[in-house]
Formats: sequence, structure tokens, C-alpha cells
Amino acid sequence: MNIDKIKNKLQNYNQEHVLKWWEQLSDIQRKELLQDIESIDFKLMKKLVNQYMERKETLILFDSIKSPEIIKIPRTKDEILHQREARKIGEQCIRDGKVACFVVAGGQGTRLGFDGPKGAYPIGPISANSIFQFHAEKILKAQQKYNVQLMWYIMMSKPLHEQTISFFEHNKYFGMHKDQVRFFSQRMLPAIDKDGRFLMSSKYEISKSPDGHGGALFALRDSGAIDEMVKKGIEYISYFQIDNLIVNVLDPVFIGYHVKASAQMSNKVTSKIAPSEKVGAVVIMDRRYAVIEYSDLPEEHMSDKDKDGSLKFNAGSIAIHMLNTGFVKTLTEKVVKLPYHIAEKNISYVNDSGGHVSPKDKNGIKFETFIFDALKFAKNVTNMEVIREDEFSPIKSLTGIDSVESGRQLYINRCARWLMKAGVDIPFDENGNAKIKIEISPLFANSADDLQHKDLSSIDTTKNIYLA
Ligand code: UTP
Repeated sequence: MNIDKIKNKLQNYNQEHVLKWWEQLSDIQRKELLQDIESIDFKLMKKLVNQYMERKETLILFDSIKSPEIIKIPRTKDEILHQREARKIGEQCIRDGKVACFVVAGGQGTRLGFDGPKGAYPIGPISANSIFQFHAEKILKAQQKYNVQLMWYIMMSKPLHEQTISFFEHNKYFGMHKDQVRFFSQRMLPAIDKDGRFLMSSKYEISKSPDGHGGALFALRDSGAIDEMVKKGIEYISYFQIDNLIVNVLDPVFIGYHVKASAQMSNKVTSKIAPSEKVGAVVIMDRRYAVIEYSDLPEEHMSDKDKDGSLKFNAGSIAIHMLNTGFVKTLTEKVVKLPYHIAEKNISYVNDSGGHVSPKDKNGIKFETFIFDALKFAKNVTNMEVIREDEFSPIKSLTGIDSVESGRQLYINRCARWLMKAGVDIPFDENGNAKIKIEISPLFANSADDLQHKDLSSIDTTKNIYLA
């Protein structure tokens, strides 16, 4: 396309400011800018700009919402038997090579403020091993256990693509084979200002951000990953988020329940700590499964109850899912549209005089789709309750709630509980936190059961414990 045509197009979409510095740009910069412009889906962006400019409050009919059916943490004999049966089914699927791990790591991690992919963050309380290494070792441990080679699909966003691959190369894939790991990037969308104009991150770059974890569906399709899975006989995808340090990346029980119910998508849930807890809730809305975000749940409805007296919004979603390969394939072939959610953020930009601005207030709008919005297209859905402290420690920022600090402590406490179960007497403080630092490499043990047959007699509980 020649420059006049591009100018015209930009004018038609009210984005002509993008070429404001054209005359000052070098040839290379011009080329980059043109490529950037050509990669944009202008029709989609027009729709999103309109969605933002004409935004209305989401109308949710709270009275018609019901709480979902949940497979509870087993307590009765029958429940324990069901769980055992699910585990057997799940283990067989893993052994048969029908399950792949899939992590979404495409977020910008702005709250963490780490210079690099979030997965490269040195999280190990003693080893300073990265989050990527922890997950890789969990997969390697599962491989030993089930005697199978597992695939690991990693979605990231373009700006961190090269850096992520170099990180894996540098660390020799943490012991995995290179061909077991697939990297691919998700789509990026322009960020806009409050007048609907694309923000510029430099005089020749349009500010873009990844299109949310829902973008995973299309990235799986566009990268060819989903077709590869089908070819390899992979039927189930174990989905998790990079920043959940203690996630069970391949849970046979969860897989088993999902398969047994012929579900297309499944969720792990935990009981909310309080009705006001800032976590999305899995619900049934218009006879379909959905997640209500906490920001869409007004205070007056937080404690709503079902007819049987149970809390409607109690099934906290912890962003761990099973997805059927066939389901993802069909969804993406039909070009099913996930809704775009609007997020107002502080986004650095170049102003009209060419100066760089790092705003203190929210000046920009990002558009994101969410993976859980695919639930409403799923024929069957299972929801499995888990113990939060055993499976969920999201790392969003450096300190405070859901942070490096709290995530590490949750991890240490889980190691402590595993060791206690194996007969090691760990000292705890009055807040229930282990008094010493503990780290157990997933290669050494990836569950309390894995520790049962280890010789732990030489552990000195007056010092930090590192088992690798
Ligand atoms: P978050 O919503 O916590 O976003 O992502 P984030 O980018 O990691 O952090 P902030 O909000 O900028 O501080 C939850 C999970 O979804 C992934 C993230 O990598 C994380 O694993 N994600 C998020 C994507 O893969 N792509 C996206 O576009 C957004």
C-alpha cells in the first residue's frame, strides 16, 4: 500500500495523527511504522473505540443467576471413591499422551515491574530459581511418574518473545527437550486515549498491548499449536497462568473429572474467603456457565443466596482450566467472538509536541478478552473445588496481597505442611507461617505423597531446608 492510501485509511478511521512525525523519520523507522499500521485490524479497532466511547454499565440480572454445581473436596467415603476413580482416569490419559500443559505468560506484568518475562522472575526462596524452572520441573517430574513425554505450550506476547526463548536456551530448557516446548505469541492491540485515538509509544511506534488471556484461543489456532496437538493425539489441555507458583500443572484428578463428565471446559474453584473477596466467581447465568468478575459484583449482591441458602457467588475462580483440543478448534474455526473488556491504565505515550509522558493517572484504554468467557460456549463444564493454600499463590506485585512476598510464604508453608506429613517437625510462628525458609525442588517431590518414601532423617529444622 502506498503512503497516500495509508494516509486516507488513517483519516477514515480518525487516526491520522499516527503519521504526525513522518517527515522526521528515518527510512527504517518509516518501514517499521508502516508495518505496524498494516498489522492493525482497523475494523475491529473502530468497533472497540465505539464500544469504549458509548460504554454502558453492564446489565446483569442478578436474580436469575445460580451458583454452579461443584465437585467438593472429598469428605465422605463415596466422595473419596469418586476421586480415586477420577484419578485413575486422569492418570491413564496422561500416560496415553492425551494431555498437554499450556501456560499463558503473555501479560505485561506491570504490577510486578520486573524487567523481563514474569516467568524469569527469580522466585525460589533459597535457590532463586525462576518461575519457569519451577513449572518445567513439575512437568519433568510428571514425565518420570507417568513414563511419557509431555508437551509444554507457552504463550507470550511479541515484545518478550525473543527474551523468553533466550532465557530457555540459556537455561538449557531446564532439562526438557527443546522439541517438547513450543513458544508462540498472542495478538497485540493498539491502546487508545480517552478520545479514541491510538496512543504512540514513540514517534514511529503505536502503543500496543496483548489482547488478554482469552487471546490464547486464537493464538493456539494462529500458531498452528492446536493442529499440532490434534496430530499428536493430544485431546486435553491443562491451562494455567504463569504467575501461580504452586499450581499443579497436571492434575490427574481434575483431568479425570473433566473426562468423565465429557466436559469441554472445566474450572478449579475455591470457596471465597469472604463475599467481598476480589476474585471472579463461577456462576450459571442464562443456563450457561460464566465467571462474574468481582468488579461487576455490586456490594448489595455479594452475599446473595440460592434457594437452598448457599452463597451464589462463592465459587472463586483461580484461573486453572481444562480445555478440550476439539473444543478450542471448533470455537476458533467458527470465529466465535469473545467479548472485549475495557481496562483503563496508566500508559506512557508521546504527546502532540513529541515529548515522552509517563502519566500519573489512568490515561489509556486497553482491550482484553478473557479465557473464562469461553465457558458459555462449552457443552459440559465441571467445577472442582480445591484447597486454596495447596494450589493458588498468584504473584502480581512485589509486596502485599498476591505478591512475591506472600507467594513465597504460601509456597514455604506448603513445603512445611508436606514435610510435617512426612514426619518432620517444622517450627511455625503465631501467624501459622513456617519459621524457617524451605524449598523443595519439584524434581525432588511434587506432592506430599512424593515425600513419603524419602529419607528425611538428617533434616535439621533449626536451619533453612533446601531439598533438590
Ligand atoms: P494478569 O491479569 O494478572 O496480568 O494476568 P499481568 O499482565 O500478568 O499483570 P499486570 O496486570 O500487568 O500487573 C493473569 C495471567 O494471564 C496472562 C498473564 O501472563 C498471567 O499469567 N495474560 C494476561 C496473558 O497471557 N495475556 C494477556 O494479554 C494478559
